[in-house]
Amino acid sequence: MSSKNLDFGTFAQDVMIGLSSNPKTLPSKYFYDTKGDKLFQKIMELPDYYLTRKEFEIFEKQFEDILQPILNLSQSFNLVELGAGDGLKTKILLSHLINKKADFEYFPIDFSGSVLDELKDSISSVFPELKVTCIEDTYRGSLLRRSWDNGKPCLILFLGSNLGNFSLEEALDILDHLKIGASHGDFVLLGIDLKKNPQTILNAYNDPKGITRNFNLNLLERINRELNGDFDLDTFMHWPSYDPLSGECRSHLISMKEQTVNLKVLDQSFHFEAFEPIFTEISKKYSLSEIEQLAQKGGFKTIENFTDDANYFADVLWRRI
Ligand code: AVJ
Repeated sequence: MSSKNLDFGTFAQDVMIGLSSNPKTLPSKYFYDTKGDKLFQKIMELPDYYLTRKEFEIFEKQFEDILQPILNLSQSFNLVELGAGDGLKTKILLSHLINKKADFEYFPIDFSGSVLDELKDSISSVFPELKVTCIEDTYRGSLLRRSWDNGKPCLILFLGSNLGNFSLEEALDILDHLKIGASHGDFVLLGIDLKKNPQTILNAYNDPKGITRNFNLNLLERINRELNGDFDLDTFMHWPSYDPLSGECRSHLISMKEQTVNLKVLDQSFHFEAFEPIFTEISKKYSLSEIEQLAQKGGFKTIENFTDDANYFADVLWRRI
């Protein structure tokens, strides 16, 4: 077993803990198996799912300003990316750095090995000269282990509103890890979805084609596949909700009837009352002033906030004090 399992349980353990809890919950990081990765790719293409397109727009229009501070160091550096995913947006940044003949190495980090394999292939076909070192790890694990550390300054990318998958308390803990993972003077580019019209946000997590529903249900399918479960998917309803005060968009799967589900691998059964929810995901939204508070609490100084024309999304550039 690799050391990456230091800071989290196995899938079976986490499912066991989550379904034994009251209220029931399942960790959203388990969305991303091969099927979940594909469904998330489809989500990114949905008209209602604006997040990826808005961040793309920010990069396309402002990549020069975003990258100027790290280029101004005029030295060899590391480009570290937490939760790299398919790296589509990152390619805009990579391409500019390569055009500028910057001397750097790219370290994509992801919890999903299959995502990293695809990313490495696609990056090396577009940028054959670029040195890419993949790290299969969690956010916290990679920030504690710092396996990219070669004494060079870093630009750490944490894009796609991935920090939104944590409650405020957990986000502050992740930022504590980021503070450990970054050295003094390192840069962080944090991509976060902004608070906006609640309807726009809710629509992004409730598409009419039901892709987001299938993405959510894939958690139960994965339990059926890997833990030999007998979840009847038709009896669970996808239910997203958005609270404009906390900025938390929360997804649930609701058991539409009283039932008992068996997981053979765990030798356990779990009872559901009618209309009992499983809380599966949080996608938290922030205002720019809340993001500034995160920077201050985390020990970072804001260099610049980059937003798209509609102010839907922000990529904030921080520097570790
Ligand atoms: C990949 C975590 C940014 O929360 O918006 C998309 C995942 N969930 N639709 C998000 C997701 C439902 C996404 N992140």
